[in-house]
Amino acid sequence: MKKILFVTSEAYPLIKTGGLADVSGSLPIALKGLGHDVRILLPGYASAMAAGHFEQVRLLHGDGEIAILEGVLPGSTVPVWLLAHPQYFGRSGNPYLGPDGKPWPDNPERFSLLCHVAVEMAMNRLGLRWKPDIVHCNDWQTGLAPALLSDEPGRPATVFTIHNLAYQGVFPHETFVKLRLPNRFWSSQALEFYNQLSFIKGGLVFADRITTVSPHYAEEIQGEEFGAGLEGLLKHRRERLSGILNGIDADAWNPAIDPFIGTNFDIDSLEKRPANKAALQRAFKLAEDDGIVLMAWVGRLVQQKGIDLMIELLPKLIRMPIQLVIVGSGEARYEQILLHWARLYPDRIAVKLGYDEPSAHLIEAGTDLFLMPSRFEPCGLNQMYSQRYGAVPVVRHVGGLADTVDDANATNLTMGRATGVVFRDAAADDLFHALNRGFVLCQNKVLREKVQKAGMSKDFSWRQSAQRYLDLYDRAMADRLTADSLLRLDVET
Ligand code: ADP
Ligand code: GLC
Repeated sequence: MKKILFVTSEAYPLIKTGGLADVSGSLPIALKGLGHDVRILLPGYASAMAAGHFEQVRLLHGDGEIAILEGVLPGSTVPVWLLAHPQYFGRSGNPYLGPDGKPWPDNPERFSLLCHVAVEMAMNRLGLRWKPDIVHCNDWQTGLAPALLSDEPGRPATVFTIHNLAYQGVFPHETFVKLRLPNRFWSSQALEFYNQLSFIKGGLVFADRITTVSPHYAEEIQGEEFGAGLEGLLKHRRERLSGILNGIDADAWNPAIDPFIGTNFDIDSLEKRPANKAALQRAFKLAEDDGIVLMAWVGRLVQQKGIDLMIELLPKLIRMPIQLVIVGSGEARYEQILLHWARLYPDRIAVKLGYDEPSAHLIEAGTDLFLMPSRFEPCGLNQMYSQRYGAVPVVRHVGGLADTVDDANATNLTMGRATGVVFRDAAADDLFHALNRGFVLCQNKVLREKVQKAGMSKDFSWRQSAQRYLDLYDRAMADRLTADSLLRLDVET
């Protein structure tokens, strides 16, 4: 049995802004299910504290009063430690952004505190009587932890998972000084990135193992197009870098028991699915018509997701007999244009801004096509939910989308393995061509059902991927031991 400290800045259902929360809320449960002792460390955001039952177990003094609260991840037996610091985490709203949509100015201090506390926990110095074998960190908010731990004799092994390389936690040199980080970290071989402080480099340089959330993305980030300036470093560490595909919470996303949808169904009762399409059309005040092809989007309205390509296409798309539902939030300029289109065509285009979990489920259960034309996509979860729910995903051949969706080309259709429509270039014309293919597929009942069933029979659960993490933890522990013995050799010679 391994002891794993899972450090993250979000975990469903306590706090969620995106897929990181889904992963942090389901991978630890899967690891626990395989017999391991996993505990989550998460900032004690006001909403997270209110979303579960937590009790204070430690009170520490440092930069303000810091409390460690203990509880479990709701719906599971996985222990959660919340790091409560009223000044840093007590505020309401988005965990990373202020009401003006800009990052909270004290983000470096907030997440540096998270990393320092992770180190103290990892070294069993907080009186919690528990020392992990592995510290598993996620994204830039936790990046300083592997760096700070690298100096600790007898430390646990460290694993750093990249969920999105585009977010790096880069701050000016003053921040490095303010955070009182050791001077030797100010080097391009450590945390310095073009004269700035990079949190993510803490993970990429110092972790015993680096993972990312799909095999395809693990390759892509070693090149210039997707490497976000860090491709050199990642290439250099490629022996320690691997891609492990995310799983999904197969209970929360199961059309047979999903409480958010009116008509439950499974692979053997696909004929019930159209009732959800009608419910979706009603909920979004679109014309109720099973004959019209319904396309939908759930996700952040940002360039990464290719929302700009969708917008560019709207004048062409609207000439086709289709409906479009969009649920998401993101950049104001995209939100405004989409609202404008929804006002122009109220019975054809519906836009709901904001975060809406029930709608996300209803959309998966009712839409014909699910759109994910991402410019890059480390893994992506919605395309997996779509396949599970009999919605046909239309995706670009990048990252985890390439690893999880099989194109409805002639060969794949014949072999019965086509599960969606895949296109190559991030260009509106290519997307249009793909949407047309999806549209035609939806008109062909037999082929469409074949594609739906192939998607619905895929296993996207955590079973295999959780085992891959366990194997990786073994390797990380072995590597760390090697590093220790090398160090001893240095001392002796
Ligand atoms: P990312 O983490 O890059 O945003 P993912 O596909 O990995 O993309 O995960 C996004 C998760 O957030 C999914 O569970 C998706 O359903 C959910 N989501 C995103 N935007 C919304 C929204 N506006 N309403 C409800 N759920 C959303
Ligand atoms: C990030 C990525 C997304 C991935 C998620 C969970 O937010 O953008 O592709 O699925 O993390 O790993």
